[in-house]
Amino acid sequence: MIFRQLFDSVSSTYSYVLASRRGGEALIIDPVLEKVDRYIKLMEELDLRLVKAVDTHLHADHITGLGALRDRTHCVTVMGEQSKVDVVSMRIADGDRLTIEGLSLEALYTPGHTDDSYCFLCGDRVFTGDTLLIRGTGRTDFQNSDSRAQWESLQRLLRLPDETLVFPAHDYKGDTVSTIAEEKRFNPRLKVGDAEEYAALMDSLHLPKPKMMDVAAPANMRQGLHQEEVARRGWAFTAEEAKGLVGRADIALIDLRERSERERKGAIPGSLHAPYADLMENIDDGGLIHELALSGKTIVFYCAFGERSAMAVRAAQDKGLTSARHVEGGMAAWTKAGGERR
Ligand SMILES: [Fe+2]
Repeated sequence: MIFRQLFDSVSSTYSYVLASRRGGEALIIDPVLEKVDRYIKLMEELDLRLVKAVDTHLHADHITGLGALRDRTHCVTVMGEQSKVDVVSMRIADGDRLTIEGLSLEALYTPGHTDDSYCFLCGDRVFTGDTLLIRGTGRTDFQNSDSRAQWESLQRLLRLPDETLVFPAHDYKGDTVSTIAEEKRFNPRLKVGDAEEYAALMDSLHLPKPKMMDVAAPANMRQGLHQEEVARRGWAFTAEEAKGLVGRADIALIDLRERSERERKGAIPGSLHAPYADLMENIDDGGLIHELALSGKTIVFYCAFGERSAMAVRAAQDKGLTSARHVEGGMAAWTKAGGERR
């Protein structure tokens, strides 16, 4: 496995790059906006293709690199299903698998620091976000925090094998990695007996507000939508309009989501499955979508929320597939409009 731990000294944030091989797909956890150039250079240096960018939670201390990475690499942006962030093109739930070529991370929903906090387990290591820090835990005094919920989340992490490596989202002392066993023994926040004692401990901390909070949290909520631009160009159907496209011979509805998302949320009847990860191949000369467009069909992409499909429309239009459209708001809007699913 290719593994890199990268540090942003301004916010003391760790970001992580994972890939299974040179020349293959890569994923990044908790990227920082100011470091995006560095990540992209590293991808080139290691001959990697960034396909997913993940935030463990809504950060209050730095601006996320998710939006910029999406714009520059067309990667899929991922957060938990509880997240209200607009940039997110794929939402995961507890127990879901976050996959790239050759690697699979298990998503653990670990609320407490925020109500959208996730940890990601990958073989011998766990990426703990701001849930479990080295000899500390994430603060629970703002952002829909809940110290009792965090206590339960921490107990869940502590049940992982002792030798599991702990990679947090931050460290302010220069520590880079720990293990579950070490944290069990030496983490002062874990020395209390139960959730009530933990809540009392967390209440007693009276931490100063993070410097960036008033800037970062709102900025991270709204990373700019591709969908508005795509609609402005007349390349979007509303979900209501899309209902009238089902079953038409001149329309090819293309589902860009991953298999797990289709299984959980259902799909528009008669749509073809062509995951976003294979988009470039599919819209190139000789590709499935290219051939469908050449045969005279209007290509109508859809995904979970309209983000991936908006990017797909732009990529397809760039390739000269002028009939490319998408369903605004994706499967979420379709379901809300009462669209049929199967
Ligand atoms: Fe945080």
